[in-house]
Order: sequence, then C-alpha cells, then structure tokens
Amino acid sequence: MTVSVCFILGLLLWTRAGGSSSQTRFIQTNRDLQLTVPEEVQLGRDIFNWRFNDRNNIIRLLRGEVDHSDDYKNRVDFFKQNLSLILKNVQLSDSGIYTAEVSGKREDVILSTYDVRVEAPVSPVLLSVDSVFNSPESCNFTVSCTTELSPSISRSFTCDRRTCEEASPAPSDPAPSLHLYLSDVSIICNHSNHVSWRKDTKEKQQVCPFGAEEVCTQETGGTKDIY
Ligand SMILES: *[C@@H]1O[C@H](CO)[C@@H](O)[C@H](O)[C@H]1NC(C)=O
Ligand SMILES: *[C@@H]1O[C@H](CO)[C@@H](O)[C@H](O)[C@H]1NC(C)=O
Ligand SMILES: *[C@@H]1O[C@H](CO)[C@@H](O)[C@H](O)[C@H]1NC(C)=O
Repeated sequence: MTVSVCFILGLLLWTRAGGSSSQTRFIQTNRDLQLTVPEEVQLGRDIFNWRFNDRNNIIRLLRGEVDHSDDYKNRVDFFKQNLSLILKNVQLSDSGIYTAEVSGKREDVILSTYDVRVEAPVSPVLLSVDSVFNSPESCNFTVSCTTELSPSISRSFTCDRRTCEEASPAPSDPAPSLHLYLSDVSIICNHSNHVSWRKDTKEKQQVCPFGAEEVCTQETGGTKDIY
C-alpha cells in the first residue's frame, strides 16, 4: 500500500519536474535561437503555449490553429509537428525564461524551460607595455590590458633567460572578462564572455629582448556559439 502510494506520488512529481528542469543557453546578439520540446506530445484538446517570462505568450496552439502574439509575429518560426520555436535575430532584451507549456482541463504541464542569456560580442582589447626593466640576466615588466568598457587590468612579470613568473601579489581582478597571461612565447590578453572572445598579444622577446631580434605584434579574435 505505502509502496504504491509512494510510486504514484513519485510518478506525479516526475511528470511535473520531468521536462521542466531549466537549461541555460547563452547566445550572441543577432543570432537565431532554437527552442525545442524534449518529447512528442499528444495535445488533443489541450492548449500549447510558448511563453516568455511567465507572462507574455509568444505563440498558442489549439486544435491545429497557431496564434502568434503581435510582439512576436514577424520574429518567430513555429513548427506544429514538433512544437519547436525559432526566435530570430535575438537582442539583449530577449534574455529571460522561456517555457513550453500544455494547459489542460485539470492542470498545466511544463514541457521545457530555458534560461536564455543574450550577450553582445566583446569589444576589442589593447595590450600595452607600461614599464620594462632590463638587464643581461633579468627582465621585469608590467603590461596592461584595456577595453572600451571594462576597467583595465595590469600584471607584472619577472623573467630570467629561461622562464618568467608573475610578480606577486597578483591583484584581485576588477574585470573578470579580461585575462592577462603568458604563454611560451607571448604575452596574451584575452577579453571574453560566453559567446565571443578577442585577444591582443605581444611576443615576449619584443618586450624582453635578451639580445634577440624583434618580432611583430598581432591582433586576432574569434567568436564561438554555444547551442
Ligand atoms: C521541427 O520541424 C521542422 C519542420 O519539419 C524542422 O525543420 C526542425 O528541424 C524540427 N526541429 C527539431 C528540433 O526536430
Ligand atoms: C627584477 O626583479 C628581481 C626581483 O625583484 C630583481 O632581483 C632584479 O634585479 C630585477 N631586474 C631588473 C633588471 O630590474
Ligand atoms: C579566450 O578565452 C575564451 C573563453 O574562455 C577561450 O575559449 C579562448 O580559447 C581564449 N583564447 C585564447 C587565445 O586564450
């Protein structure tokens, strides 16, 4: 008896929670966002909705008829067959919670929930050398990394002919989107968020020549999408 009650309760909780665990999606501005429903659903006379932030209806499907809300009329593609939704050309204001929901006579069931975070691509970065103290045996330098919006960060390093170390103490970071570090041959500043990154680099030898020839700087960047 107890076992079967628990089983039924468990099943109810499972169906309620099943599809509704929220997944986080990062997407770059001006891209298309695809939202899906994890399983096939027999709607019958139930109403299906895609909602934004629990209030605005994006689309409503009832007995095969699709209603688009005015706000989304020209911005979404909705597929009745699999209930998936494509929101086109997303902007920062499209960040929020999206839910796919079936409203029946007795209860509402959430099929999927997305926590969508729209981010603009990061701005370019500039790596600059603030100071260099050179001797035949050692080289100490301070570099900074600057962007349009974030506060700039700077780091000091001390090198001998073979290795470099960060001079302690490393300050606490005022700009978590900026990372300034050394690779084997370069000083790298990386400006990144969840959807894109850009870097500026300088050759270590250019800053600390130790008698070697100079090498040019380069600036490159990249973007990535997370689906
Ligand atoms: C849903 O159906 C449309 C149209 O048939 C298709 O283009 C799309 O890829 C499908 N989406 C998923 C997630 O299966
Ligand atoms: C670099 O720093 C180290 C450690 O503080 C010091 O011993 C060395 O003399 C410095 N070198 C130069 C060229 O200033
Ligand atoms: C910059 O940071 C991003 C995000 O952490 C990473 O994917 C990318 O590879 C980094 N680029 C470089 C040159 O380190």
